[in-house]
Amino acid sequence: MSHLSLPFESRYWPVKKLFDVYERSIREPEEFWAEQARQLDWFKTWSKVLEWEPPFARWFVGGQLNASYICVDRHVKTWRKSKVAIYWEGEPGDVRVLSYSTLYSEVNKFASILRSAGVTKGDRVALYLPMIPELPIFMLACARLGAIHTVIFSGFSAQALADRINDIEAKLLVTADGGFRRGKVVPLKEIADDAVALSPSVEKTIVVRRTGKPVAMKQSRDFWLQDLLEKAAPFVEPVPVESNHPLYILYTSGTTGKPKGIVHSTGGYLVQNYCAYKWAFDLKEESVYWCTADVGWVTGHSSIVYAPLAHGAAIVLYEGAPDYPSLDRWWNIIEKYGVTIFYTSPTAIRMFMRYGEDWSKRHDLSSLELLGSVGESINPEAWLWYYQHIGGERCPIVDTWWQTETGGIMISPTPGIECVPLKPGSATFPLPGVDAAVVNESGELVNPEERGLLVIRKPWPGMLLGIYGNPERYKEAYWSRFPGMFYTGDYAIKDKDGYFWILGRADEVLKIAGHRIGTAELEDAAVSHPQVAEAAVVSKADPIKGESIVVFAILNEGSTPSVSLKKELTDHMRRMVGPIATPDEIYFVSKLPKTRSGKIMRRVLKAVANDATIGDLTTLEDEASVEEIVRAYQELKKAEEEAK
Ligand code: PRX
Repeated sequence: MSHLSLPFESRYWPVKKLFDVYERSIREPEEFWAEQARQLDWFKTWSKVLEWEPPFARWFVGGQLNASYICVDRHVKTWRKSKVAIYWEGEPGDVRVLSYSTLYSEVNKFASILRSAGVTKGDRVALYLPMIPELPIFMLACARLGAIHTVIFSGFSAQALADRINDIEAKLLVTADGGFRRGKVVPLKEIADDAVALSPSVEKTIVVRRTGKPVAMKQSRDFWLQDLLEKAAPFVEPVPVESNHPLYILYTSGTTGKPKGIVHSTGGYLVQNYCAYKWAFDLKEESVYWCTADVGWVTGHSSIVYAPLAHGAAIVLYEGAPDYPSLDRWWNIIEKYGVTIFYTSPTAIRMFMRYGEDWSKRHDLSSLELLGSVGESINPEAWLWYYQHIGGERCPIVDTWWQTETGGIMISPTPGIECVPLKPGSATFPLPGVDAAVVNESGELVNPEERGLLVIRKPWPGMLLGIYGNPERYKEAYWSRFPGMFYTGDYAIKDKDGYFWILGRADEVLKIAGHRIGTAELEDAAVSHPQVAEAAVVSKADPIKGESIVVFAILNEGSTPSVSLKKELTDHMRRMVGPIATPDEIYFVSKLPKTRSGKIMRRVLKAVANDATIGDLTTLEDEASVEEIVRAYQELKKAEEEAK
């Protein structure tokens, strides 16, 4: 049966045009991608479309371009100079609207400031900012100089920020005096100061005035952006970079160890994203595109900054919480700016669903043409609610599967090519050029409807260049499991019609409200508490967030479990990582279930956390006997009941 699941067999594709484009992209990938790449402006054409020395792919080799030129300069040469590039709304309700020509002038001035601060091609710049226009402007200004930006999500703690700065040895950090979240000021500068104290590479920081709250400024290290702008030059020549010059590094969680710095190229990444957003969202220059993700995640990089701006579309950028000051904040924004494409996460949809449709009914959402979902599987109930109450039963929903590593959308409906019949909960088909397949543990294709592991069998232009400073980890994490195939870490099913259904992570990575975080990082944070000797973290199914964090911890000799210690450990983990690391439940136990070789039996912990019965422990962990698992399970259950 396995031959049936080749992705390019036409009988599994309900639509002809899409199939033809897809089939050609797999048959003649280099010709296909070269054609796509020609839609962008290159200063110099590539000499080779693909250099594939597995597992390293280099696309459009020898070609030269500049991402800020593509996202900004080329628009100001056309009528688009006077059209809106960014509609920004702050949480308190302040608004800024930037045309492409304003964006152009700001990007140039910011680039001049960076240049004066000593930033040159190849330097790494850390950006720790709230969702304000300065964030995309600084990203584009870095790209203009050929400098590599690393955006650190503003919800991360000082330690997490310092870890990332140290890994890339950034000389410059850009931050703000704060940002607004649920009516409160997040003290970013204070957190940044704590991080800089742990980061010897940082020589200077630039501080954006956002909240107006007083902050400590260290002389000759910290500079206000507004002071620097007074002396900024109005034009900086965009530096042509080779296609494989890194555009950015973005940290994400893996199965083990510290987060990895995913490195993305300039040329391949932009080509992939330019195409993916045209195919998946039918994105056009007249679109008003709102992706609600934070720029600190890959979704924000591709869907807020690089893809829509490369298309000359208008983006909406909103600083604050979705439910502040009331639950119709997002729907108000859609109405106010006439959003045509709206892209969000299933967690957000489930949260709104809980409060009912009265909030969205208060607003005219008729500008919407298309809806998107990303970050986790969307359950059919949430899909239908989104379709009915936000999309007015008019707008298709594109469920887009991709990852930080893939750079761009990989599996998704493609209304920009041809609409496929949708199945709620399925991301449908791979995009052109994406050779996705579902395989078993031995790397063989599984039968339709059978669960397996999702792999990509050919390089694609948006593919990561590698892990910063660690080629071995790159090989190990993605290419060692199935030689010649990129291992995604996700379970998936291809149904009998060839539709892909993503079933969640097959590794030790959690998805909390769509945010990716590794159990290893959470366990490190827990054991760094002085009273914790050992810890294991698993996830529990959560009706809104998808998954929530459960910690099993063994305390040091002499420490006694208590409610206040739970609170202390919670605060500690938040301090070490950030609010996304907040455990929902903590169990103090005297023993963790382990195999004879010392591996924690997470399956047992997960069953306990999820209130599953022993019957659910169908697959054995390596080297653990059924009796051991049953005993460990029962001990934990007992401890849990005693704790209650
Ligand atoms: O498990 C998959 C899930 O998110 C993971 C990637 O997370 P991250 O690198 O943070 O990027 C998120 C946004 C691009 C995947 O391995 N995921 C992403 N999109 C979907 C999804 N799971 C199901 N359906 C999706 N549409």
